[in-house]
Amino acid sequence: MKLKITIAASEEVFDRVAADRILSEMKSNSTACIGFSTGQTTKNMHALVAADYAAQPFKTDTLTLFNVDELTNLPRSYDGCCYTMIKAQVCDPLNVPEENFIMPQTISDDYERECREFVNELERRGGIDLQILGLGTNGHIGINQPGTPFGSRVWVSPMDPIFEARVRRETGVPDDHYLGGLTLGIADIMHSRRIVLVAKGTHKAEMVRGMIEGPVTEELPASVLQLHPNCEFLIDRDAASLLSPETLATATHIE
Ligand code: GLP
Repeated sequence: MKLKITIAASEEVFDRVAADRILSEMKSNSTACIGFSTGQTTKNMHALVAADYAAQPFKTDTLTLFNVDELTNLPRSYDGCCYTMIKAQVCDPLNVPEENFIMPQTISDDYERECREFVNELERRGGIDLQILGLGTNGHIGINQPGTPFGSRVWVSPMDPIFEARVRRETGVPDDHYLGGLTLGIADIMHSRRIVLVAKGTHKAEMVRGMIEGPVTEELPASVLQLHPNCEFLIDRDAASLLSPETLATATHIE
């Protein structure tokens, strides 16, 4: 199967194209259910989405938004919580009502129930129309770390140590305070009707090569996306820098 690969000539072009993918889904389907991803990769594209809406508002009160994953055991008010980030970056600027922002609780006495309620609510709203996915530097998607079975369903995953250290740095959580991540499982992600995987920067180039050109393996979770019938790999030139000439020849290049 030929993969759909889009390579943006610069970070600015990458952010613009990614924002346009989100905006066109929202504008073409006013009841769309759209999954976001937090991190450095998606910040600018969210700002562009918000700016576009501010300049030219459109109907957003029937959209359903959520984030693919969420930290656990941290109050939602922590800056690093996905709830807080997506609310500030997307939901509030776009006036999406709180009841249409589907997020699991970050603090709970029963995370299995939180997981169940999260996917049941997504199901009730018709399933995921568009899922934006970031790429971990170890190849993770959501918080599904290398080795996660492709059949995994929504669950609370341990973080990889590097990411956990970063979250602790960014959120100030002390080392003796357990941190995990509630994430859609790989099987849940694969049920999305459409996926856009976004990655930029040379630090992602190695994983991008593995994800696109390597074998489909649980050791590189994002490689499973090669099997999705409607997934676009949207990357910038830096992230594409290790791709083979054959792959580059099949990609769409945007200047
Ligand atoms: C975290 C999130 C992922 C995201 C990743 C990418 O791991 N839980 O969903 O894809 O960060 O982060 P960045 O864009 O900062 O590289």
